[in-house]
Amino acid sequence: MSIPDPSKKFIFGSATSSYQIEGAWNEDGKSASIWDTFSHKGKIKDKSNADIACDHYNRFQEDVEIMAQLNLDAYRFSIAWPRVLPLGTGKPNEKGIDFYKRLCDNLLEKSIRPFVTLYHWDLPQILEDKGGWTNRDIIEWFSEYTSVMHNALKDRVKDWIILNEPFVFIVLGYLLGVHAPGRRGFKNFFRASHHAMLAQAASARILRSLDSTARIGTTVSCTATYPARDNEKDRQAARRFDAFYNRFYIDPVVGRGYPMQDLPVLKKIKKYIMPDDDKGIQFDFDFWGINTYSTKLVKRNRVVPWLGYRELKRKLPRTAMGWEIDARGIHDLLMQFGKYPEIKELYITENGAAFDDRVEDGRVHDMNRIHYLNQHIDAVLKARANGINVNGYFAWSLMDNFEWAEGFRPRFGLVHVDYKTLQRTIKDSGYWYRDFISGLKTKS
Ligand code: FCB
Repeated sequence: MSIPDPSKKFIFGSATSSYQIEGAWNEDGKSASIWDTFSHKGKIKDKSNADIACDHYNRFQEDVEIMAQLNLDAYRFSIAWPRVLPLGTGKPNEKGIDFYKRLCDNLLEKSIRPFVTLYHWDLPQILEDKGGWTNRDIIEWFSEYTSVMHNALKDRVKDWIILNEPFVFIVLGYLLGVHAPGRRGFKNFFRASHHAMLAQAASARILRSLDSTARIGTTVSCTATYPARDNEKDRQAARRFDAFYNRFYIDPVVGRGYPMQDLPVLKKIKKYIMPDDDKGIQFDFDFWGINTYSTKLVKRNRVVPWLGYRELKRKLPRTAMGWEIDARGIHDLLMQFGKYPEIKELYITENGAAFDDRVEDGRVHDMNRIHYLNQHIDAVLKARANGINVNGYFAWSLMDNFEWAEGFRPRFGLVHVDYKTLQRTIKDSGYWYRDFISGLKTKS
């Protein structure tokens, strides 16, 4: 059993995250995460929680079997920090760690390359009680967690992803309060942001020092933005949006600083920057993962003065999340960030669509998803043909799962999950993806 060779070939995978699929929320010594607490308080739209979710913790072998059937080259999943370090730091929980070892072993047996995300939003509640991301000590907590996971998986994993989408977990969780831990306000937002950037780079440096052959990346959520009209006001609005949604968590890491000129409110972060932090947040990542789903059209508007823009609705087809479908965005983002000389390699680490899928006679005929995937993969391959070093695409998601504050209604999977029986049914899009991947494999 060996780790599949990370050579230059374009890989196709799928992605999930621990809280969204694992269930087993308090099994085998796992402690509560902020999402357990948040959902148990009734904060989810359908009042659900992911105590059981897809029960992947107990059914991972079946799920890896499905991945093999789908012909996946790679699988991106995340570690539940409170499963492996129930106190956040200190004594590791061997049973929790063992789960991820067995998962990786199963993947490697099928020649599926594991991409491990260290943080996909399920912070141990015990650390949130000490301030979570707003406490600068998180740099040490996260560093310790990183070493524990590296030590546990170093023989099985080469591809590491430090954070999933800082923009989303910090804006929704610490500025607007609609995601766990449900905190609000600029003070929480800017502190959490800066600490996440420091912790991210510290974690990456630790991985590099422990393992010179590790491939170290991180992921960001990005949304390509276009000005409503071709005038300076709307172009400025688009730059503001881009600074906030896209560049805020990329530019400082690659040494360009926080994009304060384009979005002046970001200057408030200065209060939390200590001497040498501008170096401390930088890291020369081996790859960047872009997660993207839709695009935005914006115009100048001062209703929210610190933002200075407003999003416009278009007459485009939408997914069950209400997100407009516009495949040119994925191409344009790859062109935008692929041209940064500081960025060496890109992956699309999430892309996909939710639709109201139904099982009929044992099949799910999700033509709309096939169409979405086809268009978006095409756009990615076009950027690659245009010279961008993008080397993989991960469909979100392997299977239907708990969609955060939205609960179980939106179904993003290539595989349908019946939440009553937990039965998995490969959707037509799953079969399409399998055939698409095999087609490319036979051509190369
Ligand atoms: C992303 C998240 C992922 C999933 C998709 C739909 O923002 O990273 O967990 O919820 O959106």
